[in-house]
Amino acid sequence: MPDSQEQITAEIVESHRVYAKAREESGQESRHVLRDFAPYRSSILRHPKQPLVVAGDPEAVELTGPVFGVTDVTALDSDLTRQHVGEPMGERITVTGRVLDRAGRPVRGQLVEVWQANAAGRYAHQRDDHPAPLDPNFTGVGRCLTDGDGRYAFTTIKPGPYPWRNHVNAWRPAHIHFSLFGTAFTQRLVTQMYFPGDPLFPYDPIFNSVPDEQARQRMVAAYDHDLSVPEWSRGFTWDIVLDGAFEGEHR
Ligand SMILES: [Fe+2]
Repeated sequence: MPDSQEQITAEIVESHRVYAKAREESGQESRHVLRDFAPYRSSILRHPKQPLVVAGDPEAVELTGPVFGVTDVTALDSDLTRQHVGEPMGERITVTGRVLDRAGRPVRGQLVEVWQANAAGRYAHQRDDHPAPLDPNFTGVGRCLTDGDGRYAFTTIKPGPYPWRNHVNAWRPAHIHFSLFGTAFTQRLVTQMYFPGDPLFPYDPIFNSVPDEQARQRMVAAYDHDLSVPEWSRGFTWDIVLDGAFEGEHR
């Protein structure tokens, strides 16, 4: 019998309470997800329980690993609304921001990849079989390289929220998955961007697996009216700080 939302929410609230108390006592903030986060049920069995093992010479691993070529990334890859013959259904949006290092310097030429559900909350993926319509004009995958200012930009469709089977009536807040490649596979960062004001935030164990309130808010994009294009799209801004400092240090 799957757990109720009430049960999951109670676990989330308790986990955040324990974190807040520890933070107050130690002064230590956590910027990342709790890997051993019980409310996100399937994560319990798949997070590492042992210390990481160094696999030989990292240099050799990286040299023999796959790479991407800069010439492979085209302008069309960053416009998810133009990858098919027709236009996808849904609300057209532009999403942009800067990738920065801990000192606030732009990270240039960075491969940024995104994947997302369509406007109805359905992924174009064989494992997503919930009864929402697929969009023949939307795959939901894009990528780009950051420019000289560290800026990435995507044109896409606002993804819908979708149900999943973590517990009874589990719905993910609308989100876009992001991957930042680094300079090698060993540096890859995978995260999610959320939309401001989503009513599903308090219910979602994935969003809440980041225990720090400020860190959670850093996953939420800002609506940017100046970025909105008249009679075309709404704009959202979201900066990504790699290995970064906490709120207020350089934002
Ligand atoms: Fe997702």
